[in-house]
Amino acid sequence: MSSVATDAPRGGVTVRELRWSDFDPIREMYLLLYEERETNPEIGIHLFHARPSYADEVAWFANLYRAVLAGDAVVSVGVVDGVVVGHCTVRRIEPGVNSETDHNGVLGIVVHREYRSRGVGRAILADALRQCEGRFEVVRLSVFATNRRARKLYEEFGFVHVGTFPRHVHRGDRYVDEELMAKVLSGPPNR
Ligand SMILES: CC(C)(COP(=O)(O)OP(=O)(O)OC[C@H]1O[C@@H](n2cnc3c(N)ncnc32)[C@H](O)[C@@H]1OP(=O)(O)O)[C@@H](O)C(=O)NCCC(=O)NCCS
Repeated sequence: MSSVATDAPRGGVTVRELRWSDFDPIREMYLLLYEERETNPEIGIHLFHARPSYADEVAWFANLYRAVLAGDAVVSVGVVDGVVVGHCTVRRIEPGVNSETDHNGVLGIVVHREYRSRGVGRAILADALRQCEGRFEVVRLSVFATNRRARKLYEEFGFVHVGTFPRHVHRGDRYVDEELMAKVLSGPPNR
């Protein structure tokens, strides 16, 4: 794990590796998304119908932490004034199964709602992609078609649109298309 600081800490953002003690702030940030969904149905992350249990979240975090230690995930954690306010994660597809697809990673990102629009997302995304060099050859993600802000950010970092899952998310009484984006980092030329 090599993440230390961002290129451009705007508004006092620093970026560091994942720590075991990050479980509580990351969980709190995640649970806030469920609250946010009530007032902002546009929130661009698909969630479960109901909040997962504490035990499920412990299992999720332990699994993520294990993947980082095993070299199957990179996590860049954004910190402002000592508070964890965002994380960007890239996880290997099918870790540990020695698959022909294990050079691919899937990216996810979230910033605490009180800390958006001040450079945290940009900083953790940049750091995570830097950590991906030499570990993954292709990074993919999916983003709500309605999430123009996130799509613009990904395009700036070289992600290209590769397709759309129609009506992928069913939230309340509406469906949202999800766009797939990908970025080729490195690797031998295609034969
Ligand atoms: C999408 C998200 C990760 C971006 O993080 P952020 O910290 O808010 O973004 P940043 O402040 O680093 O801004 C990055 C870019 O996003 C765009 N942006 C930021 N705030 C914006 C706003 N209020 N309106 C429009 N565009 C905006 C700008 O292009 C900005 O570029 P700039 O740095 O040149 O201004 C964050 O808003 C978030 O967590 N949203 C909710 C969850 C989500 O949608 N996750 C993405 C799942 S695919």
